[in-house]
Amino acid sequence: MKNLLVLLVMIFAMAPVLSAQTNESTAVLDAAKIRYKIDRNIYGQFSEDLGHGIYGGIWVGTKSKIPNIDGMRKDVVDALRKLDVGVLRWPGGCFADEYHWKDGIGPSALRPKTTNTSWGGVTDDNAFGTAEFLQFCKLIGCQPYFTGNLGSGSVRELAQWVEYCNSDGINSMSELRAKYGHPKPWDVKYWGLGNESWGCGGNMTAEYYSDLVRRYSTFMKDYGKNRLFKIAVGPGGNDYSWTNTVMKDARQSFDGLSLHYYSFANEKPATDFTQKGWFDILKSTLYMNTLIDKNDSIMNIYDPGKRIALVVDEYGTWYAVQPGTNPAFLYQQNTMRDAVAAACNLNIFNNHCDRVRMACIAQMVNVLQSMILTDGPKMVLTPTYWVFDMYKVNENAMMIPIELNSAQYVFDGDSIPAVNASASLDSTGTVHVSLCNVDPNSPEVVSFRFDSFKGDKISGKVLTADKMNAHNTFDNPNEVVPKDFTGYKLENDSVMTVTMPPMSVVVLALKGTVEPPPPLKVENPVEGLNYQYYQGTWQQLPNFARLSPERKGTIEDFTIPKENSGQDFGVQYEGYIKLPKTGLYTFSIGSDDGSSLYIDGQLVVSNDGQHAVVFQTGTDYLGAGFHKIKVEYFQAGGGMDLKAEIEGPGLKREKIPSSMLFREGK
Ligand code: AHR
Repeated sequence: MKNLLVLLVMIFAMAPVLSAQTNESTAVLDAAKIRYKIDRNIYGQFSEDLGHGIYGGIWVGTKSKIPNIDGMRKDVVDALRKLDVGVLRWPGGCFADEYHWKDGIGPSALRPKTTNTSWGGVTDDNAFGTAEFLQFCKLIGCQPYFTGNLGSGSVRELAQWVEYCNSDGINSMSELRAKYGHPKPWDVKYWGLGNESWGCGGNMTAEYYSDLVRRYSTFMKDYGKNRLFKIAVGPGGNDYSWTNTVMKDARQSFDGLSLHYYSFANEKPATDFTQKGWFDILKSTLYMNTLIDKNDSIMNIYDPGKRIALVVDEYGTWYAVQPGTNPAFLYQQNTMRDAVAAACNLNIFNNHCDRVRMACIAQMVNVLQSMILTDGPKMVLTPTYWVFDMYKVNENAMMIPIELNSAQYVFDGDSIPAVNASASLDSTGTVHVSLCNVDPNSPEVVSFRFDSFKGDKISGKVLTADKMNAHNTFDNPNEVVPKDFTGYKLENDSVMTVTMPPMSVVVLALKGTVEPPPPLKVENPVEGLNYQYYQGTWQQLPNFARLSPERKGTIEDFTIPKENSGQDFGVQYEGYIKLPKTGLYTFSIGSDDGSSLYIDGQLVVSNDGQHAVVFQTGTDYLGAGFHKIKVEYFQAGGGMDLKAEIEGPGLKREKIPSSMLFREGK
């Protein structure tokens, strides 16, 4: 046993040397280090009124011979329903800033005809409007996300769209909706504040746009229990100064900031490329990592608690259109190269799920890197569709950080990591490992070591091909489809080797046992917590360790001590929480102003910054028994509040009861 351990340590220590020669990579996966949930909305889509993205691809009308449900193609609905799409963004894109939603409500025959000036100047009969889009989202089982018009619309127009969709009150918009057959509001949560306002959405400066966001957002109201999630226009690619200005000037007015980034090779159609075309697209795709890291670090300056999500609501590959198709319709084929690019992006999003909480690939049907291609009554699923199908197991699972040491894929004097990966733990205790080998020439061997997890049963799927430009066609729809994967070996319960074919995407499901670190021994536990009270003026949580408290005491739970100055004070609570069972626990803190929660010295919930009552949550896999718990809180001017809640095995979300909280007695 000792010899085996020495051998393993040597293998991992030598990894960088080995990898350069043998195309071997190593990965360490610690299942006890989970913190953040992979939001289902990361598995989102975008569908614009562009080419045959909507008309022909989704909407064929109720009179069509193509089988349809209320005018929506049945084959497309069925395929997308299987994909567990989180969220769908519509109507644009550039088109959103020329779209006037009232053109798309009421009886179809009475809707005006308009010109789509963004995409080819074609005539739009507006048959697919608000109600049709919401019906489509219901049919495929996803959340709707509307992009509002800040370019050529008005504040009133957008405020009324929200009212039309969400108000249950007595007002002209609710009455209009009821008149058109929808008495109940739809409670639409996600609303975009324009699209690419630095470009096709109005060519604005960041300063001007920030003012517009504050103004529009003010008049977009919450109705009933539905809380709007407003998404402001973020940067296109690496325009970090846009991010900085909008975060600095308007962050109180939105909940998400978008990021748009495409990998372009627009001189040639999707199927026509050499290895250079393969390498360039994947190198450019992996740049998404840098973009997210840099935008996140700017957002951290203004929003360290990560209240605001980074929403990558347009991304994907962009080539020259298929020969013989309308250049304005952005119709492209989809090959093994696109499948690998999709897997790279999804791994990057999974690994950044603390900040990236929504992403919408461009676009769902018939446009750019689509899931589905149609031609009249024919439909085919693309390799990208199959990657989304394989990766959907990650939705709402907890991300497990991976320390990956990848071999390099070297081409023409340049190189990129050959392997990228992400992992997650789902609510059934299954660990999912998602892997991508971007090297089109060499198989990759990845040696995994699992910490805090003992695996005993593995199954897997692989998507691969023998040609870089392999793709599915209407005549040959199964050229690139997932197959069962058996290229893994569990050496013992915590070491696994995976051999991936060249240009492949592999998703493994591992059954086993997660083993959290052993709980603490507390000598003489008595109910209640210790607290320290500080006086001071802060805009963010201070480093309490460097300050001298005004007083110390004991307290029943995480309530604000009764004796306080009303403003400009801070409290640090410390003690133990006794958990009844081993499992996933989600902690939430709601505070006005900032707060944070630590378990066993690890930050689990960050809710920092000066703000009104905002809830943030964090999850940890913990063993039954005692764990250290610490909450920090500060109050600046205005209202004050602090609430700490728990949800876990056998516990519905509730205030952390004082019966679970302890300190060491004398
Ligand atoms: O997805 C196609 C276009 O790309 C969108 O309309 C626009 O937002 C982006 O530039």
